[in-house]
Amino acid sequence: MPEPLLRANAVTVTFGGLIALSEVDLEVAPTGITGLIGPNGAGKTTMFNVITGLQRPTGGTVHYDGHDIRRWAPQRRARAGMSRTFQRLEMFVGMSVRDNLRSAWEASVPGGVFGRQAAAGRETVEEILSRLQLHSFADRRAGELPTGICRMVELGRALCTRPRLLLLDEPSSGLDAGETARFQDLLVETTSGDGLGPAVLLVEHDVRLVMDVCQQITVLDFGRRIAAGPPAEVRKDPAVIAAYLGESAA
Ligand SMILES: Nc1ncnc2c1ncn2[C@@H]1O[C@H](COP(=O)(O)OP(=O)(O)OP(=O)(O)O)[C@@H](O)[C@H]1O
Ligand SMILES: [Mg+2]
Repeated sequence: MPEPLLRANAVTVTFGGLIALSEVDLEVAPTGITGLIGPNGAGKTTMFNVITGLQRPTGGTVHYDGHDIRRWAPQRRARAGMSRTFQRLEMFVGMSVRDNLRSAWEASVPGGVFGRQAAAGRETVEEILSRLQLHSFADRRAGELPTGICRMVELGRALCTRPRLLLLDEPSSGLDAGETARFQDLLVETTSGDGLGPAVLLVEHDVRLVMDVCQQITVLDFGRRIAAGPPAEVRKDPAVIAAYLGESAA
């Protein structure tokens, strides 16, 4: 395996007496899609928050592109190419779809937007609108669109920043089967299709989607890493099966 783009070692996070993450190791390859799965409350979102700088870990290290980023503020991580979506949809509901993408792009440009750069930004926005098949919604207010479209807008906002590492927290949540299938195709196409897309770390409850699109998967349960490896190995791991059976019984 090539040198990972992101490497977390022994990351621990405690909230008072609760151990949300316990010495978790995680690696994200520089290309392709890495899955991070586990039952409710396993610590997946907390791990995202540690990686993006919203949550300071109690212990452990995170290296990104060879740099120890423990002291980097979230903005610096974003400038270095990290982009994320949130489990609860985050976008500007009063803005059009196009303006949602444009504002995400503008926020990613250091020092503000001038002249020729603005034209390049418009091009980026239009390219991503068409890649995600959002053109017919471009002038609609985001707040009046169904969840399936909003999830695409959110992905579009993240892609507009031209990320090197894209972190998606349950991007298919709220989608029906047809929308999930379309989302899966677009995700594969935008990320691994031409080999130029960003590395993706995908948190997802839809285990079938994860097994289909990921090259590597890390499984958390109660804040601990219980398995890591390619989908074919992870899906028959007894600890993983037990964790998911426990969830469906609950
Ligand atoms: N800010 C916080 N303060 C206290 N406890 C927290 C906080 N954030 C998360 N937790 C707890 O840490 C544990 C891990 O939560 P986290 O949200 O990371 O899980 P998750 O794997 O993303 O779950 P889900 O699948 O439900 O989204 C849970 O027990 C949760 O209640
Ligand atoms: Mg979560």
